[in-house]
Amino acid sequence: MNRTNNCGELTKSNLGQTVKLSGWVNKIREKGFIIWVDLRDRYGITQLVFDKERSNDEIFTTASQLGREFVIEVEGSVIERKSINENIDTGEIEILVTSINILNKSLTPPFTIENESDGGEELRMKYRYLDIRREPIKENLIFRHSLSLEVRNYLSENNFIDVETPCLIKSTPEGARDFIVPSRLNPDHYYALPQSPQIFKQLLMIGGIDKYYQIVKCFRDEDLRADRQPEFTQIDCEMSFVNQEDVFQQFEGLMKRIFSKFLGSDNTTFDRMTYESAIEKYGTDKPDLRYELLINNISDEVKGKNFQIFDNNEISVCLRVEGKSDLTRKEIDEITDWVKRPQIGASGLLWIKHNNDSSFKSSFDKFFSESDLRVISEKISSKPGDIIFIMSGEYKKTLEQLGSLRVELASKFNLIDQEKICPLWVTDFPLFEWDEEEKRFFSMHHPFTSPKPEFLDILDKEPEKVIANAYDLVLNGNEIGGGSIRIHDFDTQMKVFELLGMSKEEYTSQFGFLIEALKYGAPPHGGIAFGLDRLAAVLKGKDVIRDFIAFPKNNSGKDLMIDAPSKLTKEQLKDLSQK
Ligand code: AMO
Repeated sequence: MNRTNNCGELTKSNLGQTVKLSGWVNKIREKGFIIWVDLRDRYGITQLVFDKERSNDEIFTTASQLGREFVIEVEGSVIERKSINENIDTGEIEILVTSINILNKSLTPPFTIENESDGGEELRMKYRYLDIRREPIKENLIFRHSLSLEVRNYLSENNFIDVETPCLIKSTPEGARDFIVPSRLNPDHYYALPQSPQIFKQLLMIGGIDKYYQIVKCFRDEDLRADRQPEFTQIDCEMSFVNQEDVFQQFEGLMKRIFSKFLGSDNTTFDRMTYESAIEKYGTDKPDLRYELLINNISDEVKGKNFQIFDNNEISVCLRVEGKSDLTRKEIDEITDWVKRPQIGASGLLWIKHNNDSSFKSSFDKFFSESDLRVISEKISSKPGDIIFIMSGEYKKTLEQLGSLRVELASKFNLIDQEKICPLWVTDFPLFEWDEEEKRFFSMHHPFTSPKPEFLDILDKEPEKVIANAYDLVLNGNEIGGGSIRIHDFDTQMKVFELLGMSKEEYTSQFGFLIEALKYGAPPHGGIAFGLDRLAAVLKGKDVIRDFIAFPKNNSGKDLMIDAPSKLTKEQLKDLSQK
């Protein structure tokens, strides 16, 4: 045994005991005849003391040769500490070391193993095992473990069974890009890694499994962002004989349990909103409801004043920011530059100040009189002291741009109540999205999502108007889950493939097995998948999911530690029939 105790548990109740501890040297302080060492393991930090008078010379000499991150094993007695450290659980005691054994030396780490490290992102990724020694990353991994354990317990108690589905599957063109794996045994043939187990979970329902879940790796070759990784984990679920309401009840139950356990909140309420009103009021399909700041449509109020921007554009929308009429020209210019960045892509930003003395001033005074501005103010109930930001343009694009500004202003002006938990079901998504470049429809969720029954009549004639039986779960402005009731009838599934522009040959060669399976008594079914990495990050109030993944990829999809992706040798390529 290298230890009798861990480094996070000894207190005054252990005074006088002889203990053995093992761990890493976190910090060393020397003062003449005394050396203090902070010994760290997964559980905490315990202070060791080497005293030339009380320890023997050999021990003292060994202690003076220690370096940061050396791995040591010590024995000693628990004594009371003179200067108490209230920041750690073991802060009232220290160990007077009577024997020391260096288990392994360490090079000086390239960054400090502290809560706030001096190492940059790339360096920490290259030495991820050292980064994991840091408290915040380690805590995130432990949290993730507790979260998935809670999820498993809830789902198992509710009769879901964990079934594994394959990772080497068939490539399909719908959705994001696949990661492809060449098959050695079948030259010129390729597997794809699953973007999700979607079809398999549906086949499990046809197989009578009834309630399935899996905490499963998914792979998507898409552009990366803070909340996206090329390989990520889903809590993937499916149920038979359910409608949308049943799915909501079941998974509100799961989320309530999670909020209660990890956020101490026992009375969270779940809002619901249609996709259309989310876009109209928040400019996004994942609105953050922790603050108001709604988008107002003022198209009617601003037209007809010979101001081309308003007259020629499809829509004019605005945000009213309370109490900010005193923003300077420079501050407004900064906000305008922000919306003009390519990521947002707005052509400009107009404004009206509703001054404290109830007068109005705008960036388009040349075209609008004070009373014209008052009409806008009345429409949106602005008050003295407010500023109104306005954008005009194409319908969806403009709403989305103003929606991004809404999020930015909320953070800039500290409008977000960080204590709030605002889960929201976004419902009634359109079944299809028209792609102007490819001149064809795409599925907004995926091709297996069922249309709402009341729209089946117009599926052929007006596909763009069909609403899907699909939903997302949004938490504080983050999409943490998405799902739908699926098509379980053969004819509708074929019709949807056709509307997506696939020929019979195409959909039969890609999805023939599913179409075939639908002919053998497929039950009505539906489900949802949550992003586990995202859920963990959002519950901890973070935007970046990387720190909740033990070995993540960087923004160019690279693992800097193992140096992947990498080239193959000529022999390997030849084996795989590649050039
Ligand atoms: P969807 O594509 O919406 O649905 O994915 C479900 C959830 O997975 C998370 N997610 C991601 N997390 C990290 N990195 C990514 N690249 C990434 N992509 C998605 C999100 C998202 O809400 N088969 C369907 C589910 C269903 O219909 O049941 C699906 O995969 O939190």
